[in-house]
Amino acid sequence: MSIINELSATAKKLSEHGKGILAADESTPTITKRFEANGISSTEETRRDYRDMLISTPGFNQFIAGVILFEETLNQKTADGVAFPAKLEKMGVLPGIKVDKGLIDLSNTDGEKVAQGLDGLADRLQDYKSKGAKFAKWRCVYNISSTTPSTLAIHANAEVLARYAAICQDNGIVPIVEPEVLIDGEHTIEQCEAISEPVFQAVFEALHRYKVKLEYIVLKPSMIISGKKCSKQAGVKEVAEATMRILKRTVPAAVPSINFLSGGQTSEQATAHLNTMNAQGPLPWNLSFSYARALQEYAMATWKGESNNVEAAQNAFYKRAKLNSLAATGQFKDSMEKEDISMVA
Ligand code: 13P
Repeated sequence: MSIINELSATAKKLSEHGKGILAADESTPTITKRFEANGISSTEETRRDYRDMLISTPGFNQFIAGVILFEETLNQKTADGVAFPAKLEKMGVLPGIKVDKGLIDLSNTDGEKVAQGLDGLADRLQDYKSKGAKFAKWRCVYNISSTTPSTLAIHANAEVLARYAAICQDNGIVPIVEPEVLIDGEHTIEQCEAISEPVFQAVFEALHRYKVKLEYIVLKPSMIISGKKCSKQAGVKEVAEATMRILKRTVPAAVPSINFLSGGQTSEQATAHLNTMNAQGPLPWNLSFSYARALQEYAMATWKGESNNVEAAQNAFYKRAKLNSLAATGQFKDSMEKEDISMVA
């Protein structure tokens, strides 16, 4: 298959209406923190068992088009002795891979960060591709404070996101471009809106400079939302309206799909926000989810590392996947949160 045909087939599959992406690509330190908060010890085996539990959930492929894996998982086998990418492919779910190598300090800023991992990226992508990866993810973060994000951080991060995206496309891998304006802090929704607009704009200017084909990317942005510690929390309608206003201003219609991160919202908020945006349609792009915490929170807390809890944990994951899938078409209703939604229902 030609590179363009590969990119086109992957982008089409990832933007299927009513389906989203499961982010199961937490780095080892991050998943360890989440496991420990739930009393689960973090070993190569428990991480494998947990992620195997998620992707073995019967019927989750009705709601999920792709799963982002961490490198460790890409190289692991499930309990059935099948490699993770092969198991996903068998269910019609595309395997993806987190390829940034985490955040480092950006010199000459007030503690701001830039994501690293460009050196040798093309070679790594060839290796990941040979193991089944069809798409990739790279995350940059922006912290809101009275002095940040600086113009330097906005441009440096836009630059690495665009270079990463161009290298992915060269290798027939669809890049998920993830600029995350962090929810931590006391900022208002208005401040988040004022900062997110130039952040997203700089990302698209850089993608344009690097000649990235927008038809073959997925944008994974944060929503426009009040800071976690802000005393005035914006309502669902306000978040949906502000987010749509800024994305319509900054994201060309050539982008096939926007898949939000959940970023520390509750599971219920992440679903309600997505649904309200889709219910406001029509929109120029598919608008869906690429959540980690908002899909996994209840499943992880239910699993607790015990094989006896697998079915209940899978039901918890299934419910969030189904509700977010409905939210991706604007058909979710608040009353569904109380319904008993399980795998066999
Ligand atoms: P959250 O949905 O937990 O924010 O994670 C998404 C993600 O992939 C962060 O990079």
